[in-house]
Amino acid sequence: MKNIAVIGAGTMGNGIAHTFAQSGFHVQLIDISEDSLKKGVATISKNLDRLISKAVISEAQKSETLNLISTYTNITEGVKNADLVVEAATENIDLKLNIFKQLSTVCTKNTILATNTSSISITQIAAITNRPELVIGMHFMNPVPIMKLVEIIRGYNTSDEVTKTIMELSKTLGKEPVEVNDYPGFVANRILMPMLNESIETLYNGVAGVTEIDTVMKLGMAHPMGPLQLADFIGLDVCLSILNVMYNGFKNPKYAPCPLLVNMVRAGKLGIKSGEGFYDYSTTRKAEQVAKQFLK
Ligand SMILES: NC(=O)c1ccc[n+]([C@@H]2O[C@H](COP(=O)([O-])OP(=O)(O)OC[C@H]3O[C@@H](n4cnc5c(N)ncnc54)[C@H](O)[C@@H]3O)[C@@H](O)[C@H]2O)c1
Repeated sequence: MKNIAVIGAGTMGNGIAHTFAQSGFHVQLIDISEDSLKKGVATISKNLDRLISKAVISEAQKSETLNLISTYTNITEGVKNADLVVEAATENIDLKLNIFKQLSTVCTKNTILATNTSSISITQIAAITNRPELVIGMHFMNPVPIMKLVEIIRGYNTSDEVTKTIMELSKTLGKEPVEVNDYPGFVANRILMPMLNESIETLYNGVAGVTEIDTVMKLGMAHPMGPLQLADFIGLDVCLSILNVMYNGFKNPKYAPCPLLVNMVRAGKLGIKSGEGFYDYSTTRKAEQVAKQFLK
């Protein structure tokens, strides 16, 4: 594997592009929005600066990494010559199905198609393509350059060979891959999201305030970040989509998103990325401070 196409330059896409490029892969970063591409590359550059300041990499390694990343708004051009596509676009089933349908026709027949979806069925995404055995979940964690885990999700038809290739590739990136099966939310979000949702429900019921809930979980359970701040960090829209996928997938009310979460997303309070969620990040400096606190 040499050429990796990453679709989506948002929170996860730019982290995935960064991680592959830093390991020496050629990365074609694709987004429908030119602005997202610019912001994505700026974020990668800033995160590489942080590694320079910690003496993890040199200025020369930063330039090498950035030189390995090229950007595209046209998906057909962007995936040309890709050995692997990692899709990290918005968590929306119709949008992902459209992307994978298109990938079927524009990628070479051996290109492996991976998705970074947090919860959507790999089997369903694979079924829209002309190569379901080459479709797999590659669920990186946020922030990608730092978090060790990659949850590797086998769809119903994913081949042993592709699973092995992607497990090995994840190790090449310095990650720890864990293989799981394809059920809504997989493992990570099936366990994490009910906890975040319950924290929001606890706030909604007036049991305690935002900082009190987060402090209980940080100091009492040794979590590095409180659940409400983590929800802000992930994106409240992303949390809502994942809960809805599990709620619909299992037909179990225990996954029903808290009405407060639904309202906040409707009101555009999406967490760090929109400047406000459970906390106020209305200045870039504040958002950076929160990110730094988590990333140190
Ligand atoms: N945020 C997290 O903590 C997290 C963690 C693990 C996995 N994920 C998953 O990663 C994926 C991306 O999430 P995110 O948080 O980076 O979202 P985001 O909103 O930060 O970024 C999504 C990007 O996709 C782009 N996009 C939308 N439609 C597109 C298309 N048709 N073609 C190309 N680009 C398109 C948008 O312009 C945007 O830049 C989702 O599937 C999400 O569930 C998110």
